[in-house]
Amino acid sequence: MDSAQIKRIFLDALTPILGMEEAQGMFKHYKLHLLAQKDISSEQLKEDIHQLSLKRPIQYVLGKTFFYSSEFRVNESVLIPRPETEELVRMILEKNQKESELSIIDIGTGSGCILLSLLKELPKARGIGIDISESALKLAQQNAKDLGIIADFKCLDIREEHLWTELESFDVIVSNPPYIDPLESDRMGESTLAYEPDVALFSPGDPELFYKKIAKIGKTHLSKKGEIWCEMNEYRATQIQEVFRSRGYETETFQDMQGKDRVILAKL
Ligand SMILES: C[S@@+](CC[C@H](N)C(=O)[O-])C[C@H]1O[C@@H](n2cnc3c(N)ncnc32)[C@H](O)[C@@H]1O
Repeated sequence: MDSAQIKRIFLDALTPILGMEEAQGMFKHYKLHLLAQKDISSEQLKEDIHQLSLKRPIQYVLGKTFFYSSEFRVNESVLIPRPETEELVRMILEKNQKESELSIIDIGTGSGCILLSLLKELPKARGIGIDISESALKLAQQNAKDLGIIADFKCLDIREEHLWTELESFDVIVSNPPYIDPLESDRMGESTLAYEPDVALFSPGDPELFYKKIAKIGKTHLSKKGEIWCEMNEYRATQIQEVFRSRGYETETFQDMQGKDRVILAKL
């Protein structure tokens, strides 16, 4: 099948379900994937279209996505890496020299996209990614292998403070923790709610819980000039700053490309 045929089949099937704009946008994404493939069978195309018609995110359908400067495997055990998180990575890289011998921990590493992107750009740095999800860690390990990057991964529930003794001290603590209050789920997309893992999205009961734990870890596990970098919920930036300030940190916040408060830098 040539690309014009594929486009026609794709758009004919998906436009009535998703609308013209979304179907065309999705085809652009699909086309990039086709360019990397030698050929696609009509069965595979049919199955992909079926999955997309069920509003399964295209990144899960293809099993991969781009983040920062690399391709990452993704599946339903990990959050689909977001452009806002690429900005977090870019900010950390802008503040650190390429030759820095940093030790980095990525709390809630998921696909490993933050940690592995940092390690790729900082060849003298070393890092560990932790997550509560074994299946996410398996994928992160696979991503490290694909990218030829050495990193440690550990299954650890960050809420369990007695487990922190297993960790060393770090120059950079980075995290994009689960930060959505389940009460805010009406603001979220249908596909996200249906397909992305709840454990990656929600912080039930206390939307600041992970920031409180991270601020506390920083007290014992941050090196002298160490920095904490977190992605945050745009609606709770003030409360998150207060979490760090009330625990003795100086903070700086940064906006994403849409002008939303998205990243916090905290230093002791
Ligand atoms: C918002 S996702 C971020 C994933 C990835 N770092 C990214 O930016 O795309 C949050 C991650 O935290 C992990 N997580 C949730 N609860 C956790 C806990 N108690 N301890 C450690 N990791 C946890 C989830 O499994 C998920 O991978």
